[in-house]
Amino acid sequence: MTGVFKFLVILLGALATAQQQALMDYLERRLLAIEDRITLWHEQTSRYTSELRELKQQIITQLEGMDKNKEALRSELDAVGTRVERVEREMDYLETQNGAQPCVEADDKLVEQQVTVAKEKNKSKYAKLTDCSDMVSSIKGMKILKRVGDTKGMWTKDMGVSNGKVYLFNSTGDDKLYEFSSVREFTSSLGIAEGKTVELSSTWQGMGHAIYNNHLYYVKVNEEIRLVRFDLQKGSVKNSAVFPVENQLPVYTLNSETYIDLAVDEEGLWAIYATKNNEKHVSLAKVDPKTLVVEQMWDTPCPRENAEAAFVVCGTVYVVYNSKLPSRSRIQCVFDVSDMVTNDDAPTVYFPKRYGTHSSLKYSPLDQLIYAWDDGYQILYKLQMKKKLEV
Ligand SMILES: *[C@@H]1O[C@H](CO)[C@@H](O)[C@H](O)[C@H]1NC(C)=O
Ligand SMILES: *[C@@H]1O[C@H](CO)[C@@H](O)[C@H](O)[C@H]1NC(C)=O
Repeated sequence: MTGVFKFLVILLGALATAQQQALMDYLERRLLAIEDRITLWHEQTSRYTSELRELKQQIITQLEGMDKNKEALRSELDAVGTRVERVEREMDYLETQNGAQPCVEADDKLVEQQVTVAKEKNKSKYAKLTDCSDMVSSIKGMKILKRVGDTKGMWTKDMGVSNGKVYLFNSTGDDKLYEFSSVREFTSSLGIAEGKTVELSSTWQGMGHAIYNNHLYYVKVNEEIRLVRFDLQKGSVKNSAVFPVENQLPVYTLNSETYIDLAVDEEGLWAIYATKNNEKHVSLAKVDPKTLVVEQMWDTPCPRENAEAAFVVCGTVYVVYNSKLPSRSRIQCVFDVSDMVTNDDAPTVYFPKRYGTHSSLKYSPLDQLIYAWDDGYQILYKLQMKKKLEV
């Protein structure tokens, strides 16, 4: 009996072991299959990831390429723009050199007028001085005379006596200037150096000087800012004076070399300047041309920001604005010491065409011309006037 039982036990045990083994085998196979699939997923995922990475890299490269192209295109466009401007300017210059065209002939009169108009004006000078009521209404014409010297500079004639002479201040500071006996001599010269050199004992700075009644008034900038009056006939300094204003700033933000811009109009000598006390705006002073004493001062409402130059006509200062990337210069702010002209009466006056920035604009009360220096070009603008009280 016990023998049979034992056998049964052993048989059952063997059966159970076999079943367990089968189960184990089955589970192992399943596990292997799952592992295989996991490996597969893993491979696929990492393939996708690397494909994705590649795609991203490709897109980035393409974007970079596009950026580069855009940049190249933009700089090409800029270059083309600059060249068009240059060509335009050269053409204007050549046109004014060539007297054959009718529109240029009219322009040529502009220079000849200088002498004749000045003589006529001599007769009516007294009346003009006592009854100065003109204001600028537009710019009637322009003539590009020459291109000499630095991009910045100043040229002017004697704004008090009509002796025909013109003077050139090359660049933004020097101890000499050049004199030509007439506009014609200047335009037919081969360059500035052909003029008579006027040597000074000190250095002028900026573009704000003036020639008035055979005297040069120049601005000397050291620890202090000084006006120097130089007798052009004797070739020596007559007198000088510290400009009686503290903490001066460059008067126009687009021409930071100019601290004081001297201007001559029908009523005499003016100084356009700026100080830290009124740092946003341009200030104006009337200066005695003999003693250099400041007679009166005004704070104008005209901003310094984006101003390139200014000039005075019949006691009204006209401030000319541009932008850092040069566009068309325009008179956008006026200030009249006699209060007859306000910004509302004065229309915005645009200068012709589009050039660089004017480094100086010098008004001549003898012939209503502006002597301008624009990016190395010496230009004359003819002003159209009207009476201050006309609307
Ligand atoms: C202008 O008038 C003054 C006298 O009033 C005379 O001496 C001078 O020669 C005149 N100038 C011209 C250019 O006619
Ligand atoms: C004018 O100024 C520029 C810049 O300072 C200089 O290179 C040039 O030689 C000057 N020309 C003359 C004639 O002095």
